[in-house]
Amino acid sequence: MGVYFSRSESETLLWAENFAKTLQNGDVVLLFGNMGAGKTVLCKGIARGLGIRAEITSPTFAYVNAYEDRLYHFDCYRIQSERQAFELGLCDYFDVGGICLIEWSENIAALLPENCKRVTISGSGDDVREIKF
Ligand SMILES: Nc1ncnc2c1ncn2[C@@H]1O[C@H](COP(=O)(O)OP(=O)(O)OP(=O)(O)O)[C@@H](O)[C@H]1O
Ligand SMILES: [Mg+2]
Repeated sequence: MGVYFSRSESETLLWAENFAKTLQNGDVVLLFGNMGAGKTVLCKGIARGLGIRAEITSPTFAYVNAYEDRLYHFDCYRIQSERQAFELGLCDYFDVGGICLIEWSENIAALLPENCKRVTISGSGDDVREIKF
């Protein structure tokens, strides 16, 4: 377990870029933190670290966005039930050999594979963020 204190969005991006280098295909990473804490910023940095060229945007309406068939970014905030998530086929992405990043995984807890990696970011507004990993 490590901890990093980030004083700006760009420090979080850089931290996440480096964290990405510790990831392997098949990893499922759960990103915890309140609304506005910086989970999506972490995803942007991880995508950069993996060399994904596209801009990461929140998949609020799609639940999951795929990048280059190797990075899957989930936002489960609006998922109503694990049954709905299952029927949408969200679990199918866990086994395709890419890296999955999941915001609001609390809403699909029963569907998650074992051995997920976890990153928690806390703080809000212009506060320093504490990143635990
Ligand atoms: N040190 C920091 N690290 C990350 N983001 C920061 C930092 N300081 C300020 N911010 C700002 O906090 C906001 C984080 O927004 P972000 O969309 O990443 O949150 P989120 O956790 O994904 O929220 P949601 O649950 O709504 O998806 C951004 O506006 C960002 O600029
Ligand atoms: Mg987000």
